[in-house]
Amino acid sequence: MSDFFELRSVKWKNGKVVLVDQTKIPNKLTYVSCRTYKDVANAIKTMVVRGAPAIGVAAAMGLALVAYQSRAKTKELFLKELESAASKLAATRPTAVNLSWGLKEIIKIAEQSSGDTKTIKTLIVRKAIQMAEDDVQANLKIGKYGEPLLANEDTVLTHCNAGALATVGYGTALAPIRTSVKQGKRIKVIASETRPRLQGARLTAFELSRDGIPVRIITDNMVGHFMRQGMVDKVIVGADRIVNDGVFNKIGTYTLAITSRYHKIPFYVAAPISTFDLLNSSDNVVIEERSTRELTHISNKRIYPKNVDAINPAFDFTPFDLVDAIITDKGVINQPERDKILKFNKK
Ligand code: MRU
Repeated sequence: MSDFFELRSVKWKNGKVVLVDQTKIPNKLTYVSCRTYKDVANAIKTMVVRGAPAIGVAAAMGLALVAYQSRAKTKELFLKELESAASKLAATRPTAVNLSWGLKEIIKIAEQSSGDTKTIKTLIVRKAIQMAEDDVQANLKIGKYGEPLLANEDTVLTHCNAGALATVGYGTALAPIRTSVKQGKRIKVIASETRPRLQGARLTAFELSRDGIPVRIITDNMVGHFMRQGMVDKVIVGADRIVNDGVFNKIGTYTLAITSRYHKIPFYVAAPISTFDLLNSSDNVVIEERSTRELTHISNKRIYPKNVDAINPAFDFTPFDLVDAIITDKGVINQPERDKILKFNKK
């Protein structure tokens, strides 16, 4: 069994940002080295790095590259450089709030520091490296708080990839599973394929099988069938943005939540506090529309009839009343709703 802590999707190494190339998994585990923030922006856009917490930290490290290379002599000029890079990084993917959160955390350092530009630049690089470490620590806490929700011999269904690859390490939805396994529980996982980018089949199954955790893949449209057969005990998914009326996550999550409720199967969302965006509601979040080629073609071969349109939203919205609990790095919020979450965040 490999070490659960080994896989790191985002790293700072000698003035470069090193990313696991998630477009090549499961066939190869290779890395892409980003020298500039534009390389990082391109990696986010093309999904070399993906998953809400991972793109948040990657974007922060993109700004650390700006700091590392900047020759700006005044704080004002340096801030301009940072803000220009931040707006380009923010434009890569619109739905996951962690992306803008990661950028804001870095800009805050620059704005609040009274030191000279050299000191500020050093602080920024240090902060980005710290954010990567904090992400792993937050996920370990999600594992600790989520573990009691899983019983020995449970079969847990998860959608998309909310594992080590979607974060810096350890994962969010996969964290309670990993912690349960470490404690000796026998947990089996069903990973739904996650059309069209197949994050469940390619990434979740890759990670779990590497860690020796039993995993089987089903297509997304088999979920209801297996729930009806009694083969799913719990569902845990990640989140891209938790707003004041519910959760944005990978397309298919909403259907999964409805199906879980019908079959009385607990439906859990696992996410760090940095995924909460309680100033917004579902009405004002942009759901990323991706190229329809992701649907129409498989391995560069068209599978749909010519001249037929497709629609390809990458995320959907699940209202809180379908969510049994949110597992965070500060604890579990049962039957989540806006006021309860606000009180919880103040703890
Ligand atoms: O399009 P992706 O692969 O970036 O979507 C990822 C998801 O929807 C994940 O479930 C979410 O980011 C949570 S990751 C811990």
